[in-house]
Amino acid sequence: TPAGDLATQILHALDKNSPLLSSAAFPTIPSTEVKGALDRLASRDMVKYETIDREEAILEPEGEQIAANGSHEARVFEALRTAVEGLTIQELETAIGDKNVVKIGQGRAFREKWISKTPDGKFKAAKESIKDTTKEQMQTIQSTKSYPDAKMLADLKKRKLVRTQKIISFNFQKGEKFALKIPEVATDLTADMIASGSWKSATFKGYNFKALGADQHPGALHPLNKVRSELRQIFFEMGFQEMPTDKFVESGFWNFDALFVPQQHPARDMQDTFYVSDPKEADMPRGEDSSDTADYKTYWDNVKDVHQDGKYGSIGYRYPWSGEESKKLVLRTHTTAISANMLYKLAQQKGPDGRPPPARYFSIDRVFRNETVDATHLAEFHQVEGVIADYDLTLGGLMEFMDIFFGKMGITDLKYKCAYNPYTEPSMEIFSYHKGLGKLVEIGNSGMFRAEMLESMGLPKDMRVFGWGLSLERPTMIKYGISNIRELLGHKVDLNFMRNSPAVRLDKE
Ligand code: PHE
Repeated sequence: TPAGDLATQILHALDKNSPLLSSAAFPTIPSTEVKGALDRLASRDMVKYETIDREEAILEPEGEQIAANGSHEARVFEALRTAVEGLTIQELETAIGDKNVVKIGQGRAFREKWISKTPDGKFKAAKESIKDTTKEQMQTIQSTKSYPDAKMLADLKKRKLVRTQKIISFNFQKGEKFALKIPEVATDLTADMIASGSWKSATFKGYNFKALGADQHPGALHPLNKVRSELRQIFFEMGFQEMPTDKFVESGFWNFDALFVPQQHPARDMQDTFYVSDPKEADMPRGEDSSDTADYKTYWDNVKDVHQDGKYGSIGYRYPWSGEESKKLVLRTHTTAISANMLYKLAQQKGPDGRPPPARYFSIDRVFRNETVDATHLAEFHQVEGVIADYDLTLGGLMEFMDIFFGKMGITDLKYKCAYNPYTEPSMEIFSYHKGLGKLVEIGNSGMFRAEMLESMGLPKDMRVFGWGLSLERPTMIKYGISNIRELLGHKVDLNFMRNSPAVRLDKE
């Protein structure tokens, strides 16, 4: 072989002989290397090549042994042929020197009727001579690396005598620009080339439009954000307005009291809710700026009254309500705190008839609960929340609405179960039949907000407000087939998971 790199060696080999088969000309060089060199040459039209795939049969160690010494059954026969009296099994083993050969060989030799048993239980030859076809087959395969027919090959593979291996070789010949040397090509036009004028005679490398190019790693949306944007789209389609949820800290007032959650409620325990230690206390409820002229003090008093003494036809909880408790700062445990704030603002609005207009609000944002972290729970998650305020809403109409809303997410066959929320009556858990799990799974919580909550805000008696909430994580985990929430959220999330999860899922019917 001429010296130089493989591409140069190929050019020299082709100069002497064309076409050439790689497996014959370069038998020891791995086919991937040959292909690399050929691609380099082919991209310059110096060679043309085609790929040839074939299967080669190779003897397993036992096949090699048979090719050299004969099949097990032939060896058993040979050992017995000269022993006129026959041999006991032990004598046969000593004669052959391999128990395994005797064990397999005698069985096969019996089947072939090459040997039989004497009345006293010895083995003896039953023929003058035999033909050891297996040995012949092994020898043919050994020398030709090919096999006579597929059925025989399958049989030999099953007997673990032969295996096959895919062999790739290349048939190559001179191309249009064949030469013995790869010409120097410039890949860039440089300032030097322009200054010296050498660009006029330079050969430039052609563009390779088939090159894959480097991975660009553009920004990728987190799957939670993908599902979030699908849901936002559904809400917008249905005429919802997005609520401003850009704060994680709320006062107990908005998170609990405004929602008629009594101050002794277990959800308000430190075990369930994160309290902020600095600052500890919120201001009195108020608007964000001077344009908000609502009477928050009256609202605050109404909330106090409805908890402590009862109001609006409700007997209340009848406990001493504490303003201090309601001013404690918490990490919001649900986005319903924002819904309460929005509904209070709605109560101040006047539509064409002088009454608060119907409204549809939604939000999708983070909430915090003091939970023991495990495969399905984190101390924070995203809540999807919707609120519909309208006059004389009925529960039946809202169940119909739920069918449409969840139907747009591909969730059908809803079922409802009575539940309890301090702020809704009735309250209903929403279930859907999960085909994969073969059972009903809870997908959300919902209910009709209580008069105690709405009338404290000043909303008219006949304005009904329905709300529902679900986690963003649940549907995302189902859609992306994730079983551990920590793969989805938190410091253990693998960046590749984000890069590689599909931008578009075609899972809708
Ligand atoms: N806040 C409820 C929750 O945390 C969801 C909900 C919202 C329920 C509105 C009823 C009405 O699960």
